[in-house]
Amino acid sequence: MDKLIVEGGRPLYGSVAISGAKNAALPLLAATLLAPGLHTLHNVPDLRDTRTMLKLLEILGVQWERTGKTVRINSDRLTGVEAPYDLVKTMRASVLVLGPLLARSGFARVSLPGGCAIGARPINYHLKGFEKLGVTTHLEHGYVEAIVEGRMRGGTVYFDIPSVTGTENVLMASVVAQGESVIKNAAKEPEVGNLIDMLTAMGAEIEGKGTDRLIVRGVDRLHATESTIIPDRIETGTYMIAVAATGGSVTITDCNPAHLPALTEKLLLCGVNIDTATDSMTVSCPEVGGRSLCRLQSVDITTLPYPGFPTDLQAQFMALMAQGEGTSIIHETIFENRFMHVAELIRMGADITIEGSRAVIRGVGRDKLCGAPVMATDLRASASLVIAGLSASGTTQISRIYHLERGYENMVEKLQGLGAKVWKVRE
Ligand code: EPZ
Repeated sequence: MDKLIVEGGRPLYGSVAISGAKNAALPLLAATLLAPGLHTLHNVPDLRDTRTMLKLLEILGVQWERTGKTVRINSDRLTGVEAPYDLVKTMRASVLVLGPLLARSGFARVSLPGGCAIGARPINYHLKGFEKLGVTTHLEHGYVEAIVEGRMRGGTVYFDIPSVTGTENVLMASVVAQGESVIKNAAKEPEVGNLIDMLTAMGAEIEGKGTDRLIVRGVDRLHATESTIIPDRIETGTYMIAVAATGGSVTITDCNPAHLPALTEKLLLCGVNIDTATDSMTVSCPEVGGRSLCRLQSVDITTLPYPGFPTDLQAQFMALMAQGEGTSIIHETIFENRFMHVAELIRMGADITIEGSRAVIRGVGRDKLCGAPVMATDLRASASLVIAGLSASGTTQISRIYHLERGYENMVEKLQGLGAKVWKVRE
């Protein structure tokens, strides 16, 4: 397995371009199953997870080709309706093929994803939603089988928790159901909006984009279309936090600053400068004594569904608060086990204690974290360790960086382009 070597203590300067959003590319790739024909998707990031989704589509009979950031997909002939365990266990978002397969074929057999480092990750809300549309589901041998006699019928689906992929899955099933469906307490993440735009372009009739109440009028059929993946707001936020942690000045391009209201607010409170334009922003730290470094005021955060502070930026923000002036409380309300990065940050000199779903971070101040060998446990925890390593003194070695490669396109090259001393070695 590869590991990342990071030599810390260098400010970041320059410009970095943001890739397409992983969490939009995955549902939009699955949505190509809904209609035969040639689909074109632009700005698709080339990541471990998008490659896994394309492999799953291939197993289902889809043909595809990638030219740069564009992926063309021919879903004329589906030859399978099963997502196998050995693939789903590597990427739980494979469950996103359930809705489209039910809509297209009336049947799907998908391995239950199983848990991951950050939590049990059940899909009960997905299944309950399908049942409201007339689908029968049952579990056997670790697989969920979903079947509908004839055509799905519109229904009212209420999500106890605004599940992102739950909303996307039920949405993709409802667009060709007979009659009207209402999805209440729906997720409002921008990635759901990106999917709604694609489904609408395919001929679906959906009202309520950006709200927690979606009204879908079922249509008889959909057609292939051309869509563009939105910028990755979590990748954007990761680079914003990295600059705040190391000092310097970085222009982030091909992004959508409007998708990061909570993080922007918190970084401004910490003392970071952020100048935004329509599809770019410049994040910088004020010069103090000839050095670009911001005195990080410690702030509290609570992770919430969009537009609240994203749980996918919690670990990265913790690496920043570990160097703050004061104490910060981070309350993780979305996942039950998303503090796996804490033990690794402590190895680097951070002072953090966990109390249930809250972490208390006593900032040790600037230049106090020190490089160490650490281990990545999940995608966003890996990013947290990179940020800590970039701002620590000395060298940090991060093992199991395959986690990182699931969700960050060309991160090593992008950081090197900003002056970071970071490289990959084979372990
Ligand atoms: C999506 O996961 C994202 N993944 C996650 O990003 C993100 O952290 C999460 O939304 C929250 O924003 C993709 O979009 C591919 P949820 P998802 O369903 O849809 C519970 C990353 O790092 N729940 O919104 O799986 C669940 O356990 C990844 O890019 C149920 O109990 O998350 C969690 O506590 C990590 N039953 C909460 O709801 C269900 O049926 C929110 O989960 C579904 C969810």
